[in-house]
Amino acid sequence: ACERLQRIRSHVRLVPDFPSPGVLFRDISPLLKDPDAFKAAIELLETHLRATYPRIDYVAGLDARGFLFGPPLAQRLGIGFVPIRKKGKLPGPTESVSYALEYGQAELEIQSDAVEPGKKVVLVDDLLATGGTMHAACELMKRLKAEVLECLVVIELLSLKGAEKLQPFRCHSLLQYD
Ligand code: PRP
Ligand code: HPA
Repeated sequence: ACERLQRIRSHVRLVPDFPSPGVLFRDISPLLKDPDAFKAAIELLETHLRATYPRIDYVAGLDARGFLFGPPLAQRLGIGFVPIRKKGKLPGPTESVSYALEYGQAELEIQSDAVEPGKKVVLVDDLLATGGTMHAACELMKRLKAEVLECLVVIELLSLKGAEKLQPFRCHSLLQYD
């Protein structure tokens, strides 16, 4: 697992001042481009979930990069995938929550019938920064009366304290950066 984590880490590229000055952007494009690194990431996410939860009903992925990791993970677990999208992309009826981003403001939506009340959901994204996006996704799950088992990301930016913001929801990450 440690070797695979190293392989994943070595395929995350650091881009200074993107998308705005002062932001140190962690770019996962090299990870997606390398089939072994990408596979290792999906497998480690799967192993973690299988070891931690006896039952998961859905993987819900966050627009846009949660759509890269969520569907392959859901397929490997043999469960359904649910998209949580930026405003205006999903045919209604929908629930929506607005949130502040590390660089801007946005609104997330989910279809009202996407997850049935009481179902157990894992929320998946590529990266946790301030936690604003994931927090909004948790809020959407509350509205649908679904149970969030945990928030799962490939990368966690520790200095932005996103996991603290998410409490009492649990957060798990494969890679952590300061
Ligand atoms: C990025 C990233 C997460 C979010 C993390 O997406 O993929 O979804 O920001 O930031 P936060 O923890 O501070 O909320 P972004 O909003 O840039 O959109 P994209 O996936 O459409 O590029
Ligand atoms: N990298 C990628 N996506 C992000 C980042 C980052 O550093 N911060 C917020 N979203």
